Parts: sequence; structure tokens; C-alpha cells
Amino acid sequence: MNTRRKFIKKSAVTAVGIPLINVSNCYGAQQEVEKNISKKIIPTVISTWENQKANEAAWNVIKSGGSSLDAVETGVKVPEADPEDQSVGYGGRPDRKGIVTLDACIMNADGDAGSVSFLQGIKHPISVARKVMEETPHVMLVGSGAERFALAKGFEKINLLTDLSKREFEDWKKTSKYKPVINIEQHDTIGMLAIDKNGDIAGACTTSGLAYKMHGRVGDSPIIGAGMFVDNEIGGAAATGMGEAVLKSLGSFLVVELMRQGRTPFEACKEAVMRIIKKQQFGDIQVGYIAINKEGEYGAFAIQQGFNYVITQKGQTQLIDGQFFKK
Ligand code: GLY
Repeated sequence: MNTRRKFIKKSAVTAVGIPLINVSNCYGAQQEVEKNISKKIIPTVISTWENQKANEAAWNVIKSGGSSLDAVETGVKVPEADPEDQSVGYGGRPDRKGIVTLDACIMNADGDAGSVSFLQGIKHPISVARKVMEETPHVMLVGSGAERFALAKGFEKINLLTDLSKREFEDWKKTSKYKPVINIEQHDTIGMLAIDKNGDIAGACTTSGLAYKMHGRVGDSPIIGAGMFVDNEIGGAAATGMGEAVLKSLGSFLVVELMRQGRTPFEACKEAVMRIIKKQQFGDIQVGYIAINKEGEYGAFAIQQGFNYVITQKGQTQLIDGQFFKK
């Protein structure tokens, strides 16, 4: 961010944390100021599935005055490093060639974005995505290019395939039947959104994607607007589940745009799910969305029963069963 923008951003928050905007030459400026003064900032962390530990890690960043960007990166690194989480990062289930390939994306409150896809051998794709955002002129790097970039930035190359995921893959090969199991092999992604003490929103999304996917397959998670999207004026959204369905509806962007039109986070998530239901075969797939708006309101909705999410506000973390369309 250039110095001038930094200055405006800093001066947009008073000592007591009340957000003000730079109103000079603004039509309707007085009204806008009043609207903003009356708004309270509600620091928030929300993530898909039972990622309480990830929320706690992110919350610690927010609590100590860190940025929402640092919070979401710190948070999603927890499942990325966990060998028992078989749908994210290290320990993720491989593709049908037995190779673990990772997708991730990140967005900050300025609308900057970074993403990596089909990345192999690197434990923290989210941190590589952040480096793409902050240290390259691009948004997305894929495959060997992303890997080379990561190695050049000092990331270590490791074997991501754990014994457990390898054993399961060997079993799967006996039939090679490709039918990802709802809420298990499609229980795939951590999407996380956070609001910091300045009221700024950031988001992150990271996954090893669908188990036993075709080699080279890329899902929704690294695609800005599909797997995750943030507009700091409005809110943010993230998706989990069958990436193909999310890609075809650019789901997270849609959720944010629906909130822009006045829907609550819950209504926006529900409408984005209904778009999939109206236009796609949804019987055997799961898709879930989480969303927050600038006021710290949150919501979620999924196609199938079984989707849950974690919300942290005022230091309290709760696991919530998402509402859904179909039992
Ligand atoms: N939602 C993650 C994927 O489909 O890869």
C-alpha cells in the first residue's frame, strides 16, 4: 500500500476505534459520517468445519491488535500443518496418481489477492499465496512455477503424503471408483474470514482438493471469487465442498455481491446455494458457504446436512451446525 493510502487508512480510525471516513468533497458526506460513527466494529473470525484451533490461532492475532490478514494466514496454517487433517496441506489425500497437490488463496482489505494452485511439496501454500500477492506483480502462480517461486522464497520442500493418506490411497486403487464422499472426501477446505480491530476484513482459503481427483485438477479454492472473496466495504465469503459447482457459479463473489444488494450473510449464502440447486446436479454433492459483513454479522448455508462452521467473537468460539437445503 502506498504511503498516502496508509495515511488515509490510519486517519480513518479515531483513538477510540470509531471509524471515520475522509469526507472532503463527498456528496452526502454528513450522512455518511453519521452512519459510520454509529457503526461498531466487531472483531470476528469465522471458518469452515471444525477448525476451532485455527480460529483460536487467528483470534490471538486479532486480540493482540494484529491485522485480519495476519490472522487468517496464521489461522489456516494450523490445519495446513496438521497431518491428521486429510483435506488440507500436509497429510492431504492425494490425486489418482498418488500426488498431493495444494490450492490456496488470500485477500487483504485493500482488495489485493494472491493465489497458488497445483502446488506440490510445500506445507504452507497460504504463505506462498501471500508472497505472490505481496512480492510479485501477479495474482496467481501454478504448478512448477509456484513451486520454484516458493523455493526461491525459502520455503522447504517436503513429502506431503503421510503414511495414513498413502495407505488409504492404496486401498482406493483396488477399485479406483471415483465418487467423492459427501462431508468426508468433500470435507475439504478451510475457508477463513476475519475482521480486525480496525474493522478491516481479510480472507484465506486452502485445500488439498478432492481426494483422488485427476492429476492436474484445480478446484474453486485458489480462484479469487470462487473459493473466497473479500470486499472490505461489504464483507467476505468462502466456500467449501465440490469445487466444480462453486466454480460454475463463482460462489463467493456472488455471496458478497448479494450482501452488497442488502442481503444478510445468511440470506446471501442461501441464495448462492439455491443458484447451484436451480442450475446444477446437486444430489450427490456438498457445497457450503460462510460469510460475514462489515457489521460483524455472519451466516452460512449448505446443500446437504453435515456442514458446520466455527465463529469467534468477543473471545468466545462456537461450533455451529449450518442450515442446509437437503437431508
Ligand atoms: N473446494 C475444494 C475443491 O473442490 O477442491
